[in-house]
Amino acid sequence: MKITRRTHIAVAVIALLAALATVPVSAGPAEPARGEQVPAGRGAAPQTRTAKPVANQTARGGKALTSAEECGRCHQDIYRYWKASLHAQAAEDTRFQAAFTKLKDESTRTDLDQVCLRCHAPALLQGQDFVWEKKVSWEGVTCDFCHSVRGIRADAAAPFILDVGQVKSGPLRDAQPTGHAARYADTFSSSMLCNPCHQFTNERGLAVLSTYDEWQASPYPGRSVTCQNCHMRSTSGKVVDPKVKRIASSSVNLHEMPGGHSITELNRALQALIASERHGNTVDVTVQVTNRGAGHRLPTGSPLRTIVMVVQLDSGTGKPQSATRTYGRSVVDENNQEALDEATVWLHGTRVVRDDRLAPNERRVERFSFQTPANAPARAVAKFYYRYSPEAPGKTESGMPFLSVSSWLDAGAVK
Ligand code: HEC
Ligand code: HEC
Ligand code: HEC
Ligand code: HEC
Ligand code: HEC
Repeated sequence: MKITRRTHIAVAVIALLAALATVPVSAGPAEPARGEQVPAGRGAAPQTRTAKPVANQTARGGKALTSAEECGRCHQDIYRYWKASLHAQAAEDTRFQAAFTKLKDESTRTDLDQVCLRCHAPALLQGQDFVWEKKVSWEGVTCDFCHSVRGIRADAAAPFILDVGQVKSGPLRDAQPTGHAARYADTFSSSMLCNPCHQFTNERGLAVLSTYDEWQASPYPGRSVTCQNCHMRSTSGKVVDPKVKRIASSSVNLHEMPGGHSITELNRALQALIASERHGNTVDVTVQVTNRGAGHRLPTGSPLRTIVMVVQLDSGTGKPQSATRTYGRSVVDENNQEALDEATVWLHGTRVVRDDRLAPNERRVERFSFQTPANAPARAVAKFYYRYSPEAPGKTESGMPFLSVSSWLDAGAVK
């Protein structure tokens, strides 16, 4: 069943009413919500009233965020990197839209906007644009969302403390902007900024996303290595258009935030060494795999992300023989059925029944044995693929190849 625009709007109106129903206190102009994101539960709202008001802050709740295109007028280089990021695509992403529409279609829940969009389209919730009319609603994790964050209240229903308006928060202590005001906030140098969207436990107690906790449990925080240190390295570019303001520095922090969709990052993360040995008609292949570069498990993120290693022995006689290892998680729903799409994982995922991902710095040795004639030369290859969430249940993809290592054996070499 395809959702029509009319039912979409009907659902949206219900969601809007539901949202308004949960925020009677702070929606009124007398007690401004201070631009805080509209959360699913508003229990934490009173705390924000004790916060010190900020100059230029419009005393109005639900103030809409500014489109990234506006920021891009002056911050061209950062805009260009961000535009290429998955953050910019978080709302438009066809896989996200497919999962979200399917859920809205099939579920009787009216809170799905609040559940899914707080990470995928936070600007939509902030501007209460439940009909997806504003451009900024489609911009996913947009500039003005992150740079309106004044602080984080970890584990609260509304973890982001937002100041929407003239003041942009950021990592620079000495910024002298034109067009807006600036405030230094140490959150920008902290992994905490990423926590509310990269750590998530659903209503059934399943830690769907545990990237932050995985990082926390690794040696990296002890060495003061944050998410930003790896994902927002310094790269060439101008913080702001020289026509607007001349700044000596010619580097910016990479806003593309590459991860599992980048072949370079995957190769930074995984190291593989292969060796093979002959014993008569048997070839023993050993592959040593190490998570040497990811500050969390490999892979991390959605439980549907998997790294697949295919080991093949080719002796030129007939079809190559092969064996497979996967690194990932399996999640089951309340009926012990494996959850195979994001919508099911997010809403019905109950338990992890398998987790064989590589911990940070972990080295694992995988052994294989193949039968092959002793008098034929042979080549052992280990190929690695990164597999994203399947498009639909049952439909698997071969995944993105990113690494291949091989080892040769002469005919009758060694014993
Ligand atoms: C009219 C030009 C202009 C526009 C439009 C603009 N900025 Fe800026 N911005 C600047 C300038 C100039 C600076 C100062 C750079 C410096 O002094 O190092 C700056 C600095 C910043 C900083 C650094 C603040 C800090 O203390 O770390 C952030 C963050 C920022 N802008 C975000 C944004 C966002 C988000 C938007 C869109 C909502 C935006 N800017 C739109 C010109 C602009
Ligand atoms: C996911 C959150 C996020 C988004 C989205 C985001 N930023 Fe940033 N931005 C950061 C963080 C974090 C830093 C600081 C990085 C660091 O210091 O390592 C930063 C730094 C900056 C700075 C200071 C200069 C620099 O390179 O560090 C400016 C200016 C800025 N961002 C503008 C923008 C603009 C414009 C956009 C959209 C085109 C944008 N940001 C999107 C999180 C974000
Ligand atoms: C408002 C929520 C939000 C915040 C804040 C946020 N992210 Fe994300 N991030 C997302 C979403 C949603 C996606 C997935 C987008 C998609 O695939 O549709 C994502 C994807 C990513 C990816 C995946 C890239 C890839 O190639 O697979 C990386 C890396 C990432 N974020 C890093 C960060 C870091 C580092 C921070 C903190 C500086 C951060 N994020 C802050 C929501 C957020
Ligand atoms: C030591 C460097 C390092 C640190 C620290 C680090 N990451 Fe990563 N991250 C990587 C590398 C390399 C990859 C690519 C391999 C992969 O997909 O796991 C990656 C991948 C990702 C992905 C993509 C996952 C996927 O399945 O596609 C996300 C999301 C992410 N990181 C978020 C974070 C967040 C949030 C933090 C902080 C809590 C963080 N990372 C800390 C190096 C790091
Ligand atoms: C706490 C933040 C958060 C919430 C809530 C959330 N997501 Fe996500 N979602 C993410 C992040 C982060 C990623 C990327 C993870 C990774 O890189 O592995 C993601 C990835 C996805 C993807 C895969 C996108 C792709 O291109 O492969 C789909 C589909 C998705 N989410 C659907 C949903 C649906 C439907 C909901 C609501 C039931 C939801 N998400 C709720 C943060 C969130």
